[in-house]
Amino acid sequence: MSRSPAEAFEKVPTVIFPDSAAAAKALAQEVKEIITTKNKAGQPAVLGMATGSTPVPFYRELIRLHKEEGLSFKNVVTFNLDEYFGLSADHPESYARFMAEQIFDHIDIPKANINIPSGTLRSDQVFSHCRDYEQKIDSLGGIDLQILGIGRTGHIGFNEPGSSRDSLTRRITLDRVTRQDAASDFRGEQNVPHFAITMGVGTILRAKKLVLMAWGENKASVVAKAVEGPMTEAVSASFLQDHADARFFIDNGASRELTRVKLPWLTGTPVSWTPRETRRAMVWQAFQTKRPILKLIDEHYNEHGLSDLLSEQGPSYQLNIRIFNQLQHTITGWPGGKPDEDDTYRPERARPYPKRCLILSPEPQDAIVGMGGTIDRLIEQGHEVRLISLTSGNLRVPDSEADKFAETLHQLASNAAQPGDWKAQTAYAKDALSQLEAKGEFGEDTPLLRDLKKLILRGELRDAAHALGLANDHILFADLPFYENGRYRRFKSTQADLDSLKKILEEHKPHQIYLTGDAADPSSVSGITFRLVQAALKACSHEEFAGACSLWLYRGKERALEPHEIDMAVPLSPLQMEKKENALNRFGALSSLEKEAPEINRDNARHYDSLGLAEYEAIETFQRWRRS
Ligand code: GLP
Repeated sequence: MSRSPAEAFEKVPTVIFPDSAAAAKALAQEVKEIITTKNKAGQPAVLGMATGSTPVPFYRELIRLHKEEGLSFKNVVTFNLDEYFGLSADHPESYARFMAEQIFDHIDIPKANINIPSGTLRSDQVFSHCRDYEQKIDSLGGIDLQILGIGRTGHIGFNEPGSSRDSLTRRITLDRVTRQDAASDFRGEQNVPHFAITMGVGTILRAKKLVLMAWGENKASVVAKAVEGPMTEAVSASFLQDHADARFFIDNGASRELTRVKLPWLTGTPVSWTPRETRRAMVWQAFQTKRPILKLIDEHYNEHGLSDLLSEQGPSYQLNIRIFNQLQHTITGWPGGKPDEDDTYRPERARPYPKRCLILSPEPQDAIVGMGGTIDRLIEQGHEVRLISLTSGNLRVPDSEADKFAETLHQLASNAAQPGDWKAQTAYAKDALSQLEAKGEFGEDTPLLRDLKKLILRGELRDAAHALGLANDHILFADLPFYENGRYRRFKSTQADLDSLKKILEEHKPHQIYLTGDAADPSSVSGITFRLVQAALKACSHEEFAGACSLWLYRGKERALEPHEIDMAVPLSPLQMEKKENALNRFGALSSLEKEAPEINRDNARHYDSLGLAEYEAIETFQRWRRS
C-alpha cells in the first residue's frame, strides 16, 4: 500500500473513512473475496471475530451480503477473540449471545464451525481449554482475517496493559478502565465480571491479515498511541506495528489525534491555512511554548514548523492579535444572545428575545453533565428553556435502586389507612419485587422493571433540573423507541424514532437547539440520537423555524473541546459551579467519566487563562453545528 508523506508518523497503514458504514462495507467486501477465494480452493475461510459495538455495522453488512447477494457462510469457520469469565452462553451480556444475536443467527454458518472461548470453565479447566483453542486455530491453517476493535486501555481482545507480544489464549484480569466502560452494559461497575478468557497478542498476530476498526472521538487518543506511539506492552494494539498485513480502519472522529490530522504542519506537507487550522496551530504553539498568544514571536513560529503560516498570514504581532480576538469573541455570559446589544462579534444573535431553547439530552443526565451551568444561565436570562430527555436511560439503573423503590412503594401501600385504595400500587410493588428476584443478578429486565427504572431516572432528572431552576412542565421525556427496545452496543433506530423527534421539533419550533453526540461512536446513544435529530431537522427543513434555528453542540462524556474548536465558551462563576455539582449529585448512577465533568469545565477555564484570556472559575464549551 503506498503511503503519502502526511502519513509518515503512522507505523501501521491507516485508512480514514467518512463514516463507519463506509468502512464496514469495504471490509465486508474483503471478507466476501476471502470466502470466495478459499472456497474455490476447496478450503474453509477462517475468520477471527470481535465483539463490542465497533463491529456491529460490519456484521450488519455481512448479513446484508448473505440475504441480498447470496454470500454463503457454510464454509466459514470462526474464532472469537474473547469471552467474559463466569458468564454462561445464554447470559444477555455474554459474547456468545452477542454473536448469536448480531450475526450468527442471521447467516447460514453451521453451529459446529463457531468457536468462542467458554465462560463457564472451572479454574482447573482453563489451561487445557486455552491450549485446545490455540491448537484448533493452527489445525485449520490459521486465521485468514482477524477483525479487531480496541478498548480505551489499548487492548485488543482483552489483552490489557502488560500483555506480552507473545502471549497466548489465557485467563486475564480486566483493567479498571475496561470495567468502567462495560458498566452500563451490566447496570453498574460492580456487576462487571473481573476476568475474561482472551486470545493472546501472539495468537492474534499469527493471523494472516488483521483489520482493527475504531469509531468516534473517544477512541482517538488510544488509536494515535497504537498507530504512532512506541510498540509497547502498555498498549497491546501497538503490536500491530509488528505485523506485515495489519491495517486500521477508522472514521473521522477516531482519527482526530493522528499527527496528519491534529498537527499537519509537522508532517512537512503543505497545509491549507483555514481559519480553524490557523487557530489550531496558534493554540498548540502557545501551549508548547507555555506563552500567552500575544507573546508569541517569530522564533516560536519557526521552531514549531509554522514559518509557512507566518509568511502567509504574518507578521506575527498582527496574526497574534487576530487569533486572540477570535478566541476572545467566543466568550459570552449570554448563551441565548444579549438582548439589545450589538451582536456582530457575539456567538449568538441578540434577537429574538426571549428565545425558545430546546435542550436535547440523549440520556437523562447528559445535558446536565455537559451544560448544567449554561442551562442555569439561560433560565436566569429569561429564555423559555425546555429540557428533553430523548431516551429513558432505564438500562443504566441498578437493580438495587429498583428494589429500594419497589420496597418503599410496598411499605407505603401496606401502611395506607385504607389498604383497598392502594390495590394497584401493592400489586405493582409485589410484581416488581418478585420479578427482580426471579431474574437474578444478571437476568434481563422485564418490561415492568424497565418501566420502574425509567420512573426512577425521571425522578432523578426532575430533581437535578429543579436544582437549576427548571419547573416540571419544562422537563420532557421522549422515550425514543430504539432505546426502549434495545440494549447498549446494539441499538437500532427506526422510522418511529424519527417521527417522534420530528413531532417534538414541530411542536416546539425552537430558536436554539442544544445537542451532543456528533463525534461520538455512531452506535452509542448520543451518536444515534445525534443522527436522528440531524435527520429530523432535515425532514422539517421546509418549516421556517428550522432554517432560522441556531444549533449548538455541547460535550458530555466525550473528549473535551480544545480551545481552537470552541465557538462559544460560557464562563461559570464559583457559585454556578456549585449549583451544577449539586444538580449532578442528584443522579444515583453517574459514570466515572460523567463525574469528571466539573473538573473538565475547570480545565477549560485554565486553558483560556493560559492563552492570555480572562481567568474564570470554569467554562462550558460549545461548537456551532453546521448543517450538512
Ligand atoms: C471489549 C472487547 C474488545 C472490544 C472492546 C471495545 O473490551 N473485548 O474486543 O474491542 O470492548 O468495545 P466497543 O467496540 O464497544 O467500543
